[in-house]
Amino acid sequence: MIHVDAAVEVRRQEQMTAENSDEERSMPALAHAKILVAVRSRRAQTAIARALAYLGDLTVVDDGWSCVRLAHERSFDLILVASDLTNMKGREAVLSLRGESRLAQLPIVFLADARDRASGAVAGDRRLILLPDEPIEEAKLVYVVMKLLAASEEEAWQALPERQRIALVAARQLYDRLARQRGHLSGEDMELVRSTAASLVRLVHEGDAGELLTTLHAHDDATFAHTIEVAVLLARFGVALDVPAVDVHILSQAGLLHDIGKLAIPLPVLVKPAPLDAREWAIMRRHPGLGAELLRPVPEVPRTVVAAVESHHERLDGSGYPGGLKGSEIDDVALLTAVADVFAALTDRRPYKRSMSPDEAFKIMREMSGRHLEPGFTDRFIEVVSA
Ligand SMILES: [Fe+2]
Ligand SMILES: [Fe+2]
Repeated sequence: MIHVDAAVEVRRQEQMTAENSDEERSMPALAHAKILVAVRSRRAQTAIARALAYLGDLTVVDDGWSCVRLAHERSFDLILVASDLTNMKGREAVLSLRGESRLAQLPIVFLADARDRASGAVAGDRRLILLPDEPIEEAKLVYVVMKLLAASEEEAWQALPERQRIALVAARQLYDRLARQRGHLSGEDMELVRSTAASLVRLVHEGDAGELLTTLHAHDDATFAHTIEVAVLLARFGVALDVPAVDVHILSQAGLLHDIGKLAIPLPVLVKPAPLDAREWAIMRRHPGLGAELLRPVPEVPRTVVAAVESHHERLDGSGYPGGLKGSEIDDVALLTAVADVFAALTDRRPYKRSMSPDEAFKIMREMSGRHLEPGFTDRFIEVVSA
């Protein structure tokens, strides 16, 4: 997911109020992935650059030979090839890349014409995703590129200690399943939520959760990484507050599910590689209500978790959403979730904002404390996270 969350939204609104959005505009794009684009059509090149500029450094060529030569000479994280190229067909370029052992596993997005799509020439290649060459659906393209880049990162999980690897793989399975179901959750899925939450709580108890978060920090699938981070932060918070074990698990489950409603938000809004406009924000702000609607009919979901999902964007002064609830009208688990959520959003790496240090985040959270965030929870959270 590429969008801003609670705290970033607050920050943006504050900046806009102060007529000082320069900081936002001058923030460097976090172009960390190296992407080779082999596409002839200028229109397609423009659309691709617009969609992917935030995700990586793009090298653009319009012919197949250059594509194959550059892929051999340099190192890329992903290659995007269209059927229509000069001097070599895209399909031949793809097959030539795959013939080289070093490039056999490289993520490829193949923007294929109808003939190539029907030919089956690249069938069975699990590191290649086929998309129609036109029209180029930018949101879909961003989503697919993120998925492929994330899959490469996830291969590195193999080297992690067993418990961390197991927790991350379980979390990934859960998230993919929920994403496929657009946030719909069954009693059986809740079993997976419970076991994933339990494995995160175990890591917290063993002191290994910090390493897990470091692994996730650079992860390309930001919604997934954010969800796990909030779940871990809430579990750490619960352990530090010395709440009963059952409540630590509930907090971790609330973290895993708090943004489940986003999975029902249309992709062009969810993965828009730029700040959202007012209309898109209105859609995005539906996610707490949507999440609660999805979870409420499932009896296995604890009621406090539903409350946390529905109310994690409420604010003490009543300026939050969706209900505009005030103070004690907001459930405690929702108030705790809001604190962890804001911290995670502020320190998260997003394509068009730099990642804040924890100290910078604490400063903003202290400003939000009392008005937006519950002051006692905020102070305690800062103590716990900075310890
Ligand atoms: Fe949220
Ligand atoms: Fe969130």
